[in-house]
Amino acid sequence: MFSFTLFSAIVALIHPALADLAPYRSSSEFESGAYGVYPNQTYTTNISIVAPLFNVKIQPSTFTDLSSEPYVLLCVRGAQVPDLAPQIVQADENLTLVWSGNEWGGAYPLRVQEYDGESYLTFWNGTSETLGYGRGFYYMLNASYDMAYKLSAVNATVEGDFHEFQLTDNGTALITIYEPMPYDMQAYGIANGYLMDGVFQEIDIETNDLLFEWKASSAFGINDSFVDPGEITSGLDANNAFDFYHINSVEKDDNGNYLVSGRHTHSISYIDGRTGETIWILGGKRNQFEDLSGGNATNFSWQHDPRWLSPSTISLYDNGATDWTSTGNVTRGMIIQLDTTAMTATLVAVYLSPDGILSASQGSMQLLSNGNVFMGYGSKSAFTEYAPGGEPLWDVEFGVLGNRTVKTSGAMNYRTYKANWTGRPDTDPTFTYSNSSLYMSWNGATDIATWALMSSPNSTNLTSFEYVSSPQNNIGMAY
Ligand SMILES: *[C@@H]1O[C@H](CO)[C@@H](O)[C@H](O)[C@H]1NC(C)=O
Ligand SMILES: *[C@@H]1O[C@H](CO)[C@@H](O)[C@H](O)[C@H]1NC(C)=O
Ligand SMILES: *[C@@H]1O[C@H](CO)[C@@H](O)[C@H](O)[C@H]1NC(C)=O
Ligand SMILES: *[C@@H]1O[C@H](CO)[C@@H](O)[C@H](O)[C@H]1NC(C)=O
Ligand SMILES: *[C@@H]1O[C@H](CO)[C@@H](O)[C@H](O)[C@H]1NC(C)=O
Ligand SMILES: *[C@@H]1O[C@H](CO)[C@@H](O)[C@H](O)[C@H]1NC(C)=O
Ligand SMILES: *[C@@H]1O[C@H](CO)[C@@H](O)[C@H](O)[C@H]1NC(C)=O
Ligand SMILES: *[C@@H]1O[C@H](CO)[C@@H](O)[C@H](O)[C@H]1NC(C)=O
Ligand SMILES: *[C@@H]1O[C@H](CO)[C@@H](O)[C@H](O)[C@H]1NC(C)=O
Ligand SMILES: *[C@@H]1O[C@H](CO)[C@@H](O)[C@H](O)[C@H]1NC(C)=O
Ligand SMILES: *[C@@H]1O[C@H](CO)[C@@H](O)[C@H](O)[C@H]1NC(C)=O
Ligand SMILES: *[C@@H]1O[C@H](CO)[C@@H](O)[C@H](O)[C@H]1NC(C)=O
Repeated sequence: MFSFTLFSAIVALIHPALADLAPYRSSSEFESGAYGVYPNQTYTTNISIVAPLFNVKIQPSTFTDLSSEPYVLLCVRGAQVPDLAPQIVQADENLTLVWSGNEWGGAYPLRVQEYDGESYLTFWNGTSETLGYGRGFYYMLNASYDMAYKLSAVNATVEGDFHEFQLTDNGTALITIYEPMPYDMQAYGIANGYLMDGVFQEIDIETNDLLFEWKASSAFGINDSFVDPGEITSGLDANNAFDFYHINSVEKDDNGNYLVSGRHTHSISYIDGRTGETIWILGGKRNQFEDLSGGNATNFSWQHDPRWLSPSTISLYDNGATDWTSTGNVTRGMIIQLDTTAMTATLVAVYLSPDGILSASQGSMQLLSNGNVFMGYGSKSAFTEYAPGGEPLWDVEFGVLGNRTVKTSGAMNYRTYKANWTGRPDTDPTFTYSNSSLYMSWNGATDIATWALMSSPNSTNLTSFEYVSSPQNNIGMAY
């Protein structure tokens, strides 16, 4: 009788990891849908975990060209995507699954954020409504993947929305709420109209107390929208309230003010953190900036994810489209320089998908620690890392992309982030014996460099061991 035991070593070297199934490389079969709209794989040690099988279109000759953030964070969604789960994969040639949080179902977006000197995995989880907002709560998992905090919208008639869960440096969190309210829409022939307000709140992480609240209806009106009542949302009742603003990001800066994005107004507002007054508006019908780039710095539309890069530059994911209309020719990552004294805007960099993607919804743009840019194409199943000058270095698909006229793929990801993460699960590794092989995985363990199989002649006296074998394939998720 042999008993097997795990011998794990924590080694500082980057280990050779191999996914169960290696990614495809520029596979035309993948792109044609021969493997399904969401090519996927399951694992011997846990068949209930389903992860993407990627198609790598552009790969750097060496991954040291890429940023030092070693993981990609995904929450692939879509009507045909089975078993939704926030997932972490290695940002290297093998894209090995590292963690799958299946108990978190439809959670997104997955990020690593800092609070009180610790790193947390953060996300919203709840019910995603077909009209493009969510009702749910905000979660922070610690390094052991245990829930450390669960936050909720404060004093609202509905639960919190998925579009934003941004932590500040001051121990607070920014969240969004899609809250219906009665609104006068008689000008549109609607007697008892309902507006879907775009609300954000700043809440204290420790106490969940409300510190600040802003409502789009205090600053914007129906006339500011590029959508009319009845076009997408009828405005006739609270369940179909007119989504005139569509809040989709909030960030607070060191001045204590907020940068807010309203997709349906094609505008970004800078909101005073004490008074809630609008300091300025970039883009949209009430744009206040002179465009020094011949219109190209302020003509973004249906945008996502504006972020301050410096006190005078912002990054932005410019969709240029929705599912019902296209105003741009191609989705752009943008870096815009703002002079808020002269009130000028200049487009200083553009990042374009090597696939010419025009994405109808969702999407993200992240400036990485080495100056590279990482874009997740939202409703289109791809992410791309760019050199600072715009050259695509790594281009990966996690589903059938479809041609340029297809603005929404079968597999989507709201925002795609790269991050560093240290996971030390308090669960045990999992073993499965199958076909004369022993398969092992340890969901979420990032410190494990390798493992070895040892045997003991006596299963109740585990003091003497002999080496049996090392893995054919090394640690990642499951073999
Ligand atoms: C990827 O897998 C291959 C094949 O097993 C292996 O040689 C290589 O070292 C792996 N790369 C990384 C970065 O782990
Ligand atoms: C998942 O992968 C299997 C093959 O492994 C494939 O038959 C199926 O179509 C895929 N699912 C989707 C939604 O593409
Ligand atoms: C990731 O974080 C760990 C723990 O802080 C650190 O040891 C490691 O060097 C980091 N990796 C990179 C690539 O920055
Ligand atoms: C397999 O994954 C499911 C979903 O995450 C989990 O509930 C279950 O405990 C896992 N099983 C094992 C043996 O780890
Ligand atoms: C995530 O949200 C869904 C939908 O509200 C819910 O069914 C599920 O229980 C939540 N998961 C956890 C772990 O709270
Ligand atoms: C809760 O909302 C009501 C109605 O908007 C408001 O009057 C009240 O001041 C709010 N309370 C808190 C604690 O924010
Ligand atoms: C943090 O708090 C300080 C002091 O109240 C304030 O000046 C600063 O704007 C705050 N920063 C953020 C990001 O909340
Ligand atoms: C604006 O962008 C378009 C499309 O990329 C380009 O053709 C045009 O030259 C740009 N205009 C200016 C003034 O840069
Ligand atoms: C529209 O985008 C496509 C793909 O990026 C490009 O080939 C074409 O030249 C663009 N057309 C215009 C008018 O910018
Ligand atoms: C793009 O893909 C769609 C859906 O597969 C197809 O109907 C359409 O003909 C394609 N268009 C082009 C130009 O290939
Ligand atoms: C367990 O096995 C070791 C090595 O064979 C032996 O020295 C030791 O006495 C054994 N322990 C017990 C409790 O039998
Ligand atoms: C295994 O070790 C236990 C504890 O030392 C001992 O009681 C038992 O007899 C051993 N069994 C065999 C088969 O050697």
